[in-house]
Amino acid sequence: MRRWHELFVPGRVCLFGEHSDWAGSYRRINSKLQPGQVIIAGTNQGLYARVRAHHDKLIVRSILPGSDEPQSIELPMDRHELLQTAEAGGFFSYAAGVAYHMLTFYRVQGIEIDNYQTTLPVRKGLSSSAAFSVLLARAYNRVYDLKLTIRAEMEAAYQGEIRTPSRCGRMDQGCAFGQVPVKMTFNGELLHTHRLTIGAPLHMLVADLNGKKDTIKILGDLNRAFPFADDDESMRVQQYLGPINTELVERASTHIAEGDAEALGKLMTEAQRLFDDYLMPACPEELTSPKLHRVLNDPRIQGLTWGGKGVGSQGDGCVQFVTRSVSDRQELVDYLANTYGMKAFELDLTPPQAVRKAVIPVAGYGTRMFPASKALKKELFPVITPDGMAKPIILAVVEEAVQAGIEEIALIVRSGDEQFYDDFFNQPVARDHYSHLSESHQKYCQYLHNLGERLTFIPQQEQAGFGHAVYCARDFIGKDPFLLMLGDHLYVSQSEVPCARQLIDAYEQCGARRSVVGCYVADVEEISNYGTLAGEALNSDQRLLEVREFAEKPNRDYARRNLVTPDLPPDKFLCIYGQYILSPAIFECLGRQIDADAREAGEYQLTTALETLRKQEGVLGYRVAGRHYDTGLPGPYVQTLHAIYHGE
Ligand code: UTP
Repeated sequence: MRRWHELFVPGRVCLFGEHSDWAGSYRRINSKLQPGQVIIAGTNQGLYARVRAHHDKLIVRSILPGSDEPQSIELPMDRHELLQTAEAGGFFSYAAGVAYHMLTFYRVQGIEIDNYQTTLPVRKGLSSSAAFSVLLARAYNRVYDLKLTIRAEMEAAYQGEIRTPSRCGRMDQGCAFGQVPVKMTFNGELLHTHRLTIGAPLHMLVADLNGKKDTIKILGDLNRAFPFADDDESMRVQQYLGPINTELVERASTHIAEGDAEALGKLMTEAQRLFDDYLMPACPEELTSPKLHRVLNDPRIQGLTWGGKGVGSQGDGCVQFVTRSVSDRQELVDYLANTYGMKAFELDLTPPQAVRKAVIPVAGYGTRMFPASKALKKELFPVITPDGMAKPIILAVVEEAVQAGIEEIALIVRSGDEQFYDDFFNQPVARDHYSHLSESHQKYCQYLHNLGERLTFIPQQEQAGFGHAVYCARDFIGKDPFLLMLGDHLYVSQSEVPCARQLIDAYEQCGARRSVVGCYVADVEEISNYGTLAGEALNSDQRLLEVREFAEKPNRDYARRNLVTPDLPPDKFLCIYGQYILSPAIFECLGRQIDADAREAGEYQLTTALETLRKQEGVLGYRVAGRHYDTGLPGPYVQTLHAIYHGE
């Protein structure tokens, strides 16, 4: 049976930098201009859809806001017919345009899209048409596993939408990033995107001014200042959309990173004042915008907000505010409705949920360490740390999690072993033994107990593999993102920051709310023993990647054909490091695998579930600055002992 995939695509609001997107593209002609910079954010509202493959048709059903009757269209996957429908315009032209692009460039078959709910208002400057185009591009990407990155989905959506009569800019498809703020830089033909971090929740509101605005006139008048300014008015337009805007966007990025709502709101007010000073004279008919200014100057509204400004091309279209609190926002919604008859949409910028929990499976048989593992579980074998202490491996792993800021840890243990681990961490040392310990070791007993208080022991009833062990933690984790570490590996950071913390930082900083899998560069000879991934770099130091594919223990030929990561030397690949920040959606992926009894070599593999998760919500890779040591094999265990003792 063809499986349905669930998708959500939000709209987008331009918080700062409106008009600088097209202004920056004039650098193709006038290199003295500055690149344009905007900050956009995904809206709370959006398009909800189920999508699945169809052998030869494009079928789209859609319910528009305020209507109960679905509209639908059915087209053959034929380039000529798709292009004709796209060029004819209308609601389904975007679907046809993107389908035309996907068919032409990716040779896909058909698709069925059931857009069963739309909370995004249309024609309100929230990019509903771009959201629909991104929905189509993402649907093809998921259903046919085209391994497109978010940037590639944006590009496909743009290429599809420009087949229609609708004139979209490249900023519009930024909704593909989801509900996170993104800084976009427009430099001639080049587009650069960068997700922003959010220091604390920001509660915003966008309201429809119920006014009229002529975007075409605004664009026409402002464009007269480009590419070369020949009078003072044009110089001022260039100045605002160039250096002034760059500074505003820089300051806004900092305020968002600091979660400083007051400073962000005041900056919006300042940006509007400068916009009025510098741009209004170039198009007074549209940019005087009396409704916008009446609302912005209303003392009651000023008391509920930290500031605000126009949205999109400006004029009397929409207004946005940074509100002082959630309750002030609710008061503002009511006040706008009662006094001005305006409808408002909430916009929340929230930091990713903190990673507070960790899962460490220690329930394996340890077959490869037999017969020692008959006497002692391999996770309890000793290592000697550089300070000369003999520690069971699991203790060093737990310590790293705690150093990384983790508050609660689940150890997945073999059924019946709970007591054993509990005794080690939580029971006091026998009195006579204790009296023989050095003073520092006596203090250590208390420290061990403190660690033990953070631990929960969860039994794994059947040793059905690493993936199955992780699945046992689903109730403990609930809806939170979590750190996963192997119980028989040790991690030594090559920076000041512990390896697990590097991953948590990457998760929090990329603002993407997507899982982050630690990885390292390995030789081709090693990959047939490990989970391997391939991806495209997302930042300039090449540490963060958008994963294109996960493969469990691939052979060389497969890896050379499918798993090459650009920027790595020949025959080098990325293998999984053994530390992960995972979204709770991983449990659904593992659950499906377990329900279908899809075992590999008798076990449920996590890597297979990661590949499912990647198709579902995308996964990032992070090249950890550190080394990892396997203690589950005799030879590597000896090397680990040596390396850990010498702190290498
Ligand atoms: P390994 O892949 O090294 O498997 O597990 P293993 O079963 O422990 O070792 P061998 O193959 O028998 O020698 C990686 C981590 O996952 C845990 C292990 O305890 C180890 O920390 N694990 C593995 C489980 O908790 N449950 C399992 O069913 C399998």
